[in-house]
Amino acid sequence: TWAQFEQKPPTVSYYVPFIGSMIEFGINPIKFIRKNQKIHGNFFTFLMFGRRMTVCVDIDGNDFVFNAKHSCVTAEDAYNSLTKPVFGEGVVYDVPNSVLMEQKRMVKAGLSIENFRAYIPIFIQEVNQYIDKHWTESEGTVDLLQSISEMIIMTASHTLLGPEIRSKLHEGVADLYHTLDSCFTPIHFLFEWLPLPSYYSSGKAHDELDRIFGTVIAERRKHTGEKHIDMLDALMESRYKNGEPLSDKHVGNMLIALLMAGQHTSAATTTWALLNLAANPDVVNEARAENEAKFGHKLGAKSFPEPSYEDVKDFVVLDNVVRETLRIRSPLIELMRKVVKPVAIPNTNYVIPAGNYIIASPIISSTDEKYYKAAEDWVPSRWNTAEKEDSMDKATTDYGFGATTTSARSPTLPFGAGRHRCIGEQFAYVQIKTILYVLLNRFDFSLDPKRGMPERNYQSMVVLPEGPVLCRYKRRAD
Ligand code: HEM
Repeated sequence: TWAQFEQKPPTVSYYVPFIGSMIEFGINPIKFIRKNQKIHGNFFTFLMFGRRMTVCVDIDGNDFVFNAKHSCVTAEDAYNSLTKPVFGEGVVYDVPNSVLMEQKRMVKAGLSIENFRAYIPIFIQEVNQYIDKHWTESEGTVDLLQSISEMIIMTASHTLLGPEIRSKLHEGVADLYHTLDSCFTPIHFLFEWLPLPSYYSSGKAHDELDRIFGTVIAERRKHTGEKHIDMLDALMESRYKNGEPLSDKHVGNMLIALLMAGQHTSAATTTWALLNLAANPDVVNEARAENEAKFGHKLGAKSFPEPSYEDVKDFVVLDNVVRETLRIRSPLIELMRKVVKPVAIPNTNYVIPAGNYIIASPIISSTDEKYYKAAEDWVPSRWNTAEKEDSMDKATTDYGFGATTTSARSPTLPFGAGRHRCIGEQFAYVQIKTILYVLLNRFDFSLDPKRGMPERNYQSMVVLPEGPVLCRYKRRAD
């Protein structure tokens, strides 16, 4: 029978029972995966604290994980223990997949082009406000990750949660986010059964945020005539197919989930982009020249116009900068699913048993020399050439909420693919490009001569530059 040909993917050998390859994987997952890809091919299993993790890489691996049948492979079984204490109940991975699909459609309403038009001036206002308060010298050194993280919190909170909650940020709301955030570490994935103290504080922080959101929502419901263009309004108005609205509590929980999804991912991307710009003044000059040509005059620290949505979309150099940064510094490098029914890997004789986890790591293909010349180098202009047309399959994996750029068979998938694909991509591009536009008009940047370009830190769920991320800024002429 066919069954006798069925095999499990090869297992990475290890010395310490139970713990398995956990230490080597934890220190540098990319190095670990590349090494074992050479030995075992694109599919292999390693042991981590008694869990069997099957890594699936290259284009076939990405496609297998992102497009696996939901009856065999689920994200909710892999992620819910990690996300439920943070997001709360009734949203994202705490509901059947069909409900998540509807919730993603609801979120899309707050990410319309009409909304982006309203968000751009808010992004600019928030960045200017932050700079005027914190980067006050004519030149200086800052912790760039810290500064950018704050700009991302301010811009995201203002446009997603609305001006009321944004104005409460300094009244402790920001601390509540940080508390929730502290739950988002690999340790909570590995030890979901441990009563870690952070679960207790995250529960309290969550309840407190729920209360604040509840008050704001109730206030808005009293003044139904006032229209706000933000995610809060979009979610308050949204309905399931059966006509039921999203409850106020679930509106709040969705907002927390969205903030968490977009915070470190966008902060890391913006920071890496600026660090690379600081190291490549020629690219900065190209970006400025493009903008000056577009607006027809010289731009300086004060004399830069507010771009329209179309302008931001057309910032080609900055677009390439973000795309290239995401290719080599994808913030999410391990995307996980749990196998709930044995599943065969197409075009192999491997079958993965129920109970295993599978991991996609699209950064492995997006930094593979097979697909990109000088694959580890940051070269934004590579996206100007045919390479983009060849490598980026324009066909979409669209599950009804308008995925835009990539199918699961593109080598570069920083936003994933398939039913769990990111819906924040366009928001992130508009937000990051607008922030870069303001910063490049107001300052010249250079790397701190002692620190240079930081290494990657793999200890958190989102890969961040190793701190302190020192960067020098120098105010430009008006
Ligand atoms: C899903 C990356 C920004 C909301 C994802 C996934 C990736 C990703 C790789 C797929 C996860 C998986 O398959 O397991 C990024 C990157 C970002 C970013 C690199 C910034 C540069 C945002 C923002 C938002 C957001 C700003 C919200 C406004 C979501 C949501 C999902 C998602 C709702 C769907 C989760 C699911 O269906 O399971 N993101 N994201 N993301 N992201 Fe993003």
